[in-house]
Amino acid sequence: MSDALTLLQNHGQATITYLQEALVRQTDAPPRLLQAMDYSLRAGGKRLRPALVLECFNACGGSAVGSYPSALAAAGAMELIHTFSLVHDDLPAMDDDDLRRGRPTNHKVFGEAMAILAGDAMTTLAFELIAVDAEARLVGPMVAELARQTGPVGMIGGQVLDMDSENQALALPDLQRIHRMKTGALLMASCRLGALAGGADQNKVQAMGDFGRYLGLAFQIVDDLLDVISTAEQMGKATGKDADRGKNTYPILLGLEPARLQAQQQLATALKILDSFGSPADGLRSLAKFVVERSN
Ligand code: IPE
Ligand code: IPE
Ligand code: MG
Ligand code: MG
Ligand code: MG
Repeated sequence: MSDALTLLQNHGQATITYLQEALVRQTDAPPRLLQAMDYSLRAGGKRLRPALVLECFNACGGSAVGSYPSALAAAGAMELIHTFSLVHDDLPAMDDDDLRRGRPTNHKVFGEAMAILAGDAMTTLAFELIAVDAEARLVGPMVAELARQTGPVGMIGGQVLDMDSENQALALPDLQRIHRMKTGALLMASCRLGALAGGADQNKVQAMGDFGRYLGLAFQIVDDLLDVISTAEQMGKATGKDADRGKNTYPILLGLEPARLQAQQQLATALKILDSFGSPADGLRSLAKFVVERSN
């Protein structure tokens, strides 16, 4: 756990510094838009996705053959897309939440229109960072990957299915599909982008993507569990809301212990995929265990 916390801290700091420099360069942008973007980015997230990008980069031998600037651009892009997804997820039209990352939600402070636009601007900035800062031969593959995992068959599609299935009891395979899309897709993208930046061949990129996909499902199952068993103080966001909103979640569908077991099984499958990467993947192993053992 302590190894994972150090990785999250270090990779998170590098990523946030990089993003803040990128915001400072937007000199002609309306200041309030930049403030709204900075407000949600700077708040205390765990920075899991940037840490996954940079540890997949390391596990693929990136420091010897890869491009760290490409990996850092991908880490920044992933945190931007993730933060956009949170800002929009919290809107009254979606989960209608007032607290996020330990602070009032973006729309509570800046208003709904600005929260929508700040999320939009985070998305476009994510693609700009890759286009400008990643190695030229990686730009096309990285943009394609990020767009696919963010878009209609990825996170955004998953959010649509999540909303459409409120107050309907789903079967487990349908819920698994939603979780893989709304959350798994961005973890998968983080891992694949890190591998691409690290100079990995197609097989390794695929393996890292599979690792992220299993870990992503484990991550959302644990998020569902923490909504039941944790507190707003610990999580920095409201808890106990999924049942009230008629959400489909693992604990609601299966009960707490079977849900926990499912998260463990996904973690075990994810860890198995790392076997062929040897000791350079130790950081990823710590992060993967953190995903299931975390309390926030
Ligand atoms: C919350 O993600 C949204 C989900 C996908 C469940 P995180 O728990 O990673 O949020 P931050 O980045 O730490 O705030
Ligand atoms: C959110 O799932 C997934 C995305 C933001 C894409 P949740 O709605 O469960 O996330 P929290 O619990 O609000 O962080
Ligand atoms: Mg939601
Ligand atoms: Mg939510
Ligand atoms: Mg949740």
